[in-house]
Amino acid sequence: MTRTVYVNGDYLPETEAKVSIFDRGFLMADGVYEVTSVLDGKLIDFDGHAIRLERSLGELDMRNPISKEDLLEVHRELVRANEINEGLIYLQITRGSDGDRDFAFPDPETTVPTIVMFTQNKPGMADSPASKKGAKVISIEDIRWGRRDIKTVQLLYPSMGKMMAKKVGCDDAWMVEDGFVTEGTSNNAYIVKGNKIITRALSNDILHGITRAAVLRFAREAQMEVEERNFTIDEAKEADEAFTTSASAFVMPVVEIDGVALGDGTPGRIAPRLREIYLDEMRKAAV
Ligand code: PDD
Repeated sequence: MTRTVYVNGDYLPETEAKVSIFDRGFLMADGVYEVTSVLDGKLIDFDGHAIRLERSLGELDMRNPISKEDLLEVHRELVRANEINEGLIYLQITRGSDGDRDFAFPDPETTVPTIVMFTQNKPGMADSPASKKGAKVISIEDIRWGRRDIKTVQLLYPSMGKMMAKKVGCDDAWMVEDGFVTEGTSNNAYIVKGNKIITRALSNDILHGITRAAVLRFAREAQMEVEERNFTIDEAKEADEAFTTSASAFVMPVVEIDGVALGDGTPGRIAPRLREIYLDEMRKAAV
């Protein structure tokens, strides 16, 4: 099926959607993005993603070309046109193109940002076999830039990290800086000790995950203890459980770190429970 995608105000077949070769997103990774999940044909945590998008744009002095109301409308229209029941909506806004290449930002009065959106159909995403098996991760050095709180499209190193993991038969990589885990290549990272969930505190070092915020809220409501602090890979290897969160994989148990099985090497108790609560609650609040 040819997807219907959205480019700068138009709905087009994916084969007809075009962006300039001078677009700064293409030339300089000068752009930000969001990934919002769809369950039962409805958007999960749309508000959270819209607020973070606004923040990312603001941090980069980039103009937001679309109102929140219109953004919601485009998301819904793409879900409808592409008949998405379970899947993802990818949104990217770049600083656009003034028809040449220059390190200096183009004049925002005359250069309009580029906005692109498309769907990814993922039937069975909520009930994925991978979440029942759990993920195996390796640790790698975090060599990304210092503003990881901005959701930019500079994803080369996370892509390389994913490939390093695949090369050794694993699913993902956790990045480590100054001895402490920052986050996964495309998710936030957690360990569990007894009834306590430990995850790095928010700062410029990690993306402020929309799924993270919801999952920590549900954990606290379920009387689980949450500690926001740094942890090392050695501490993670000794943990009872571990997991990651993201809009694309929700709560994903981690069963192995650098070849060391956690607990009995199966998903454990807390992560599957949190996944269940997250999916139940978010389905109820979906728009
Ligand atoms: N990635 N950390 C990083 C580096 C991420 O790329 C992501 C999301 C997260 C989790 O954020 P959220 O819960 O808001 O999805 C944390 C998306 C899913 C992606 O790049 O596809």
